[in-house]
Amino acid sequence: MCPPKFYDVNYVINPWMSGHIHDSSRQVAAEQWQRLYSAVTEIAEVVLVEPQPGSPDMVFTANAGLERNGVVVLSRFFHAERQGEEQHFRHWFDEAGYTVLNVPRDIPFEGEGDALFAVDGSRLWAGYGPRTLQSSHHYLSEAWKIEVVPLHLIDPRFYHLDTCFAPLEDGSVMYYPPAFDNPSIERIEAYYAKDKRIIIAEADALCFACNVINANRTVILNKVSDTLSEQFESRGFRVVQVELSEFLKAGGAAKCLVMKLSGTPC
Ligand code: ARG
Repeated sequence: MCPPKFYDVNYVINPWMSGHIHDSSRQVAAEQWQRLYSAVTEIAEVVLVEPQPGSPDMVFTANAGLERNGVVVLSRFFHAERQGEEQHFRHWFDEAGYTVLNVPRDIPFEGEGDALFAVDGSRLWAGYGPRTLQSSHHYLSEAWKIEVVPLHLIDPRFYHLDTCFAPLEDGSVMYYPPAFDNPSIERIEAYYAKDKRIIIAEADALCFACNVINANRTVILNKVSDTLSEQFESRGFRVVQVELSEFLKAGGAAKCLVMKLSGTPC
C-alpha cells in the first residue's frame, strides 16, 4: 500500500475525477486510508511504498503492476499523468528482489487494475479497452505461461477490470455485466456456473462494490447496500465495510488501494 501523503485529484483521466479537481480532503482521505490499512493488516502482512510528490494517484498501488511467484510485470500507464509512477514502483520491486518484466513502452498495461488471476491460478482474466491494450496480454501469458482470457470493458465508468469484476476465494465471482461486451460475458458465464455468479446491481457497482479485497472468507470494501452485504454473509463471508468516499472522487476504492503480492520473492 502507499500512504496518501500526496493524494489529491489533480487531473481528470476517468469520469469519476471530473468535477472533483482539488475537491478531496487530504485529512479525511488519510483517516479513511488508515481505517482501510488497519482492516487489511488483520488479514495480511502489509508492506508500504514511499509516496512521491507529483504522483497523487500512486496510492492506487493495484496499478503498479501484476505479481505472481516473485515475477512482476510492471505497468505502462496509458495516461502521461501516471507514467511518472512507473520508476518508483520499479525501484521498489527491484529493491525487494522481485524479477521485473516489462511490456513495450508503447503498449499500455495497468497492472492488477486490469488483470486478475482465477483463484485456482489456472487462468488470468485480463481487461482491455479504456486503459490496457489487448496486445499486452501476450506478454502476461508469456510471463507466467498462463492462459489469458480477454474481457472487453465498454462502460467508461468501469475503466479498470477491478472496478467491475472480482473472482472470490470461495470459487464465486462478482461482476457488473453491463460493463462488458457480450463475448466477454459469455466467457465469464462459461467458466462460472450460475450459482457461482454474484451479479452486482448498478447502485452497488457505482459504490465500487466489485472493488473488493478478499482473503479467505473476509471481504473488505467500500460501503455497499444491505442486500449485498447479506448476500456475502449468506455465502459465509465476513464483511468489512470502510467508507472510502475521498478515493471514489479519483475513481478508486478498496482494492485499487492495495496490490496483492504472493509472498517474499526467492
Ligand atoms: N485516478 C486513478 C486512475 O484513473 C484511479 C485508479 C484506480 N485503480 C484501480 N485499480 N481501479 O488511474
